[in-house]
Amino acid sequence: MTVPQPARGRARQDSIYRPGALGIAPLVPTEVTALERRARAAMSRKAWAYIAGGAGSGATMRANREAFDRWRVVPRMLHATSGRDLRTTVLGTDLAAPLLLAPVGAAGLVVDDADLRIAEGAHASGIPYVFSCQGSCPMEETAQAMAGTPFWYQLYWSTDEELVDSMIGRAEAAGARALVVTLDTTMLGWRTEDLDLGSLPFARGEGIAQYTSDPRFMEIVRERLAAGARSAQPLGIDPRKPLQAARAAKGGLATLLSMSRQHPGGVRDNLRSPQPRAAVETFLDIYSNPGLSWEHIATLRERTSLPVVLKGILHEDDARKAFDMGVDAVVVSNHGGRQVDRSIAALDALVRVRAAVGPEPTVLMDSGVRTGADLFVALALGADACLLGRPHVYGLALDGADGVSAVIDNVLGELDLTMGLVGAASIADITRDLLVPAY
Ligand code: FNR
Ligand code: LAC
Repeated sequence: MTVPQPARGRARQDSIYRPGALGIAPLVPTEVTALERRARAAMSRKAWAYIAGGAGSGATMRANREAFDRWRVVPRMLHATSGRDLRTTVLGTDLAAPLLLAPVGAAGLVVDDADLRIAEGAHASGIPYVFSCQGSCPMEETAQAMAGTPFWYQLYWSTDEELVDSMIGRAEAAGARALVVTLDTTMLGWRTEDLDLGSLPFARGEGIAQYTSDPRFMEIVRERLAAGARSAQPLGIDPRKPLQAARAAKGGLATLLSMSRQHPGGVRDNLRSPQPRAAVETFLDIYSNPGLSWEHIATLRERTSLPVVLKGILHEDDARKAFDMGVDAVVVSNHGGRQVDRSIAALDALVRVRAAVGPEPTVLMDSGVRTGADLFVALALGADACLLGRPHVYGLALDGADGVSAVIDNVLGELDLTMGLVGAASIADITRDLLVPAY
């Protein structure tokens, strides 16, 4: 039976229109391009490049949005939908709505303690957060900040198998409700915005907090230091260009300072220690595994009791194979267009995957979801829930934890109103027959 919940949409409108009547406009815009524009103004160039940027020419990012434009909702009338229930359950995790916050690495580029602020925002809106393996805060601290709201943990498969086990064990101990293994980033894609600024956040020590807080990782760092290993990577500085050399010296200092700030312990001590730099170098060496294969995934059943989710599936045969292997869910995703330029749009892949695996298996989706109407379309096309990526980071940039919460509430407010206006009293009522292809 559908239990009517307080109408999220009306409540959200009220919370904006009431201050509006006093001349106070919302800090976090509801409209997608306005949200992006304002967030951009609040971020450094490097932060914007990393967060908003995509692979190559950006065609995959555009395709993700265009795919939504190819569907139209067909509202029904006189359906007496006075109350809506947005709740659902995915892999045994009760969700207030079919939405989770996507794992986003290096959000520390935007604000300090970014993952804690995101967790607080997620908790305030009652939405789970998938912690990133490239997080800016140790997962144990972020888990505390969730204050009881469920969270999942996302793993990048390192080349060091002991590190893989260590991170899984920590995620279990911290209380994660599922393990999300991201498959599509065995190497970083060709990110033109970052490349043209020469900016790799991890090389400055951003987004490696899960590693520097890990006993196995720090063991490897110490072993490297003891062995005197120094990766003598050429810096590419031409000594005949003094201006370039002077800039490099300044940049080098900034990087050193950034590494020392990010590394556990005091900045002063870290500045004198070789450890922060060794940690970054170790990370760059062992982060993610280009040799990742189905055989690795097959070992997971033995390694964790958590439900296993594979993120980054785009081909229906990969989805079939995942479920045949006993994986619990997949996330259809092209990583927000950050990995392979000219990829299939995630929403188009969702349609194909759902058709291939049938109605039962748990299929989540992300990449291009921006609004409540987008969420409605993805659910109607067979997603059990969606992950919200960049928009929550834009909210973070504009108003910290409150900004994250505002973005979630806007998306869910619109979903609730869309359901009420279309005639869907529950998530199960959001069905394919409420859509037509756009002509
Ligand atoms: C990501 N994404 C990501 N995914 C993941 O599994 N682990 C990670 O650490 C990250 N890091 C990350 C950083 C930033 C800045 C972005 C924008 C994205 C991908 C993310 O989880 C999700 O798949 C995409 O963000 C979805 O695309 P949209 O909707 O944000 O365009
Ligand atoms: C990214 C990685 C960290 O998209 O997932 O930047």
